[in-house]
Amino acid sequence: MKISVIGTGYVGLIQSVGLAEFGFDVVGIDIDETKVKRLNEGKCPLYEDDLEELLKKHVGNKLKFTTSYDEIKDSAVIFLCVGTPQDDEGNADLRFIYSATESIKNQLDDGYKILVIKSTVPIGTNRKIKELLKDYNVAVVSNPEFLREGIAVYDFFNPERIVLGFENLEYKKPIDVMKEIYSHFDNNIPFIITDWESAEMIKYASNAFLATKISFVNELSKLSDEVGADIKIVTKAMGIDKRIGNKFLNAGIGYAGSCFPKDIKALIKQFENNNISPKLIKATDEVNEEQICWFFNKIKNYYNNDINQKIFAVLGLAFKPNTDDLRESRGIKLIDLLLKNGAIVKGFDYVEKARENTINRYKLDKSKAFYGYNLYILEDLYETVKDADAIVITTEYNFNNEDWEKIKTAVKNKVVFDGRNILNAEKIKKLGFEYYGVGRK
Ligand code: UGA
Repeated sequence: MKISVIGTGYVGLIQSVGLAEFGFDVVGIDIDETKVKRLNEGKCPLYEDDLEELLKKHVGNKLKFTTSYDEIKDSAVIFLCVGTPQDDEGNADLRFIYSATESIKNQLDDGYKILVIKSTVPIGTNRKIKELLKDYNVAVVSNPEFLREGIAVYDFFNPERIVLGFENLEYKKPIDVMKEIYSHFDNNIPFIITDWESAEMIKYASNAFLATKISFVNELSKLSDEVGADIKIVTKAMGIDKRIGNKFLNAGIGYAGSCFPKDIKALIKQFENNNISPKLIKATDEVNEEQICWFFNKIKNYYNNDINQKIFAVLGLAFKPNTDDLRESRGIKLIDLLLKNGAIVKGFDYVEKARENTINRYKLDKSKAFYGYNLYILEDLYETVKDADAIVITTEYNFNNEDWEKIKTAVKNKVVFDGRNILNAEKIKKLGFEYYGVGRK
């Protein structure tokens, strides 16, 4: 079966290499010529574990990339994986969805095709796409993705559930084709076969629930700090209760990335567009926006509100470990706040491309150029902490594995602000460091 995948971002690229690995003939389509050229040379545009290896394995055989929508003509199934960024008002911007739908439409004839929407789209979008294609023999299927950046390839091959939304559950053809495509997974993986709107909502509901868990513990962490409780112990005990579960209860400086912040804002808009006031989800968003400011104030207070010319070693640039993705990164937000308040920042990330992206971000953003000279991005952690007035942890890498004896001799002032509660606080304190976590001391 020949399959086209439109969009070669995180979702589309992983879908393309994953389907090629399953043995399908896959064509990845993207409007970006340079990207397509590089992909055909086996060069991966983004950092993701195992992705480049898989790309190299299949490109030129089961997998090719092109800018031409012509390839759709003889594809039985088309996966739509273009971005749905946030617009100025917080809505999901569907510009790319609709322009891709138009391009697909231009290639359709009488033959039967299945168009699968993998992009995260507001509830009702699959129906609108079908309306645009009503004169053609096309089934539209909603198939939201649940890939986590950094381990997206693993997630593709080990899904916890496959969600499929159809126009009409009586009509078996598209259901059977989709089941065939995903038949390569273990038999025990649950398939949720439902209508379009429920499938679309499952995606938003899942992300919003996880984000709410995070904001819930982050709100508690502030109280924890005031009353002297340890949020790490509180959440550990909470998580033992199976009804609560022990995942996504790590207090920190807030959730980030390309999905949670944007999806939560888009869900709020969908409530408002339906004249319902989204109280809980709005609070999730507000708590998240505030958390980094609260943490920054904690740092500032330590220095009696004067951090001018103080040197901060910020460990973690990308929004989470093992990615180069800076989108909404709390580390970057904190660097902005530190620089704006006159501090000198030495930034570090284990991922080279995350460091490169940070350098480019500050170079390109002219509004930040005036304090750009106070920022140094380094490739060695020990060089980063050298002469620092404080170490600030912003990404949840396991920094416990570093040589803290060596770090101790390198820093100017032995104080750590652990924005991800990742360090073994007792060990650090025994070495003579002052330790400030999020909701724990
Ligand atoms: C998230 C979802 O986890 C995926 O299931 C979903 O498919 C994806 O969004 C998407 O919509 O495409 P991702 O953005 O890669 O995946 O990141 P997560 O691992 O979920 O982490 C999101 C943020 O939450 C990170 O900034 C992380 O630091 C933060 N987080 C996570 C916490 O602050 N505390 C926790 O306990 C867990």
